[in-house]
Amino acid sequence: MRSQKTLWLKIAVHAAAWVPFVVLAWGYWRGGLGPDPTGEVIRRTGRVAIVLLILSLVPTAVKLLTGSGALIKVRRILGLYAFMYAALHLLGFAWLDYGFDLRFLLPALVDGRRALAGLIALVVLLLLAITSTGGWIRRLGKNWKRLHRLTYLASVLAVLHYAWSFKELRAAPVVAGAALLPLLVARVPPVAGLLARWRRR
Ligand code: HEM
Repeated sequence: MRSQKTLWLKIAVHAAAWVPFVVLAWGYWRGGLGPDPTGEVIRRTGRVAIVLLILSLVPTAVKLLTGSGALIKVRRILGLYAFMYAALHLLGFAWLDYGFDLRFLLPALVDGRRALAGLIALVVLLLLAITSTGGWIRRLGKNWKRLHRLTYLASVLAVLHYAWSFKELRAAPVVAGAALLPLLVARVPPVAGLLARWRRR
């Protein structure tokens, strides 16, 4: 019964994760993305990536808070889709914006704090995606958990990248940061310990 529920949860997450891609691809193909389709592709894929990245941290926080590991089964899926959208985000930037012209693209990737935060976040997500398989979990042993804590670094960098994408402080990145904060705090060892003791009582 439980595995049936998990299966449906996984199917729902897969289906929901593809919706933004299909809507975006359809809009792009039909010319329905407004006057700046390239910018729209970059912005939308970036937003979806950050939402999925933050959502991928929820299962661990829920487990720490309630002891229920039911959502842990979709953590990896959410993380991988976050990486997929981040990779599409970079692809949109490199292809649609820069036509893969490395003379201009490479300097742009390291041009300023916004670009650097995005680049490091993406490299971390790539590393985590590569090492997310069963083989790597076995090979890395205890270090796998340590390595995968880098998700939190990637999330912080992604929120900074989001905030630095605008000249002024906007509400959306602040909301993303506010959503991330409790998820980060719950993982700090003394807080996690406190939560575990509180749960046992
Ligand atoms: C090499 C890596 C990256 C590059 C080159 C890059 C590039 C960009 C650019 C050029 C923009 C501004 C788009 C515009 O205003 O027209 C942007 C915005 C954004 N990026 Fe990235 N990015 C990278 C990595 C990431 C990652 C890893 C994430 C999230 C996980 C992310 C999330 C966002 C978000 C949320 C925005 C703001 C979207 C909006 O305006 O609503 N980016 N990025």
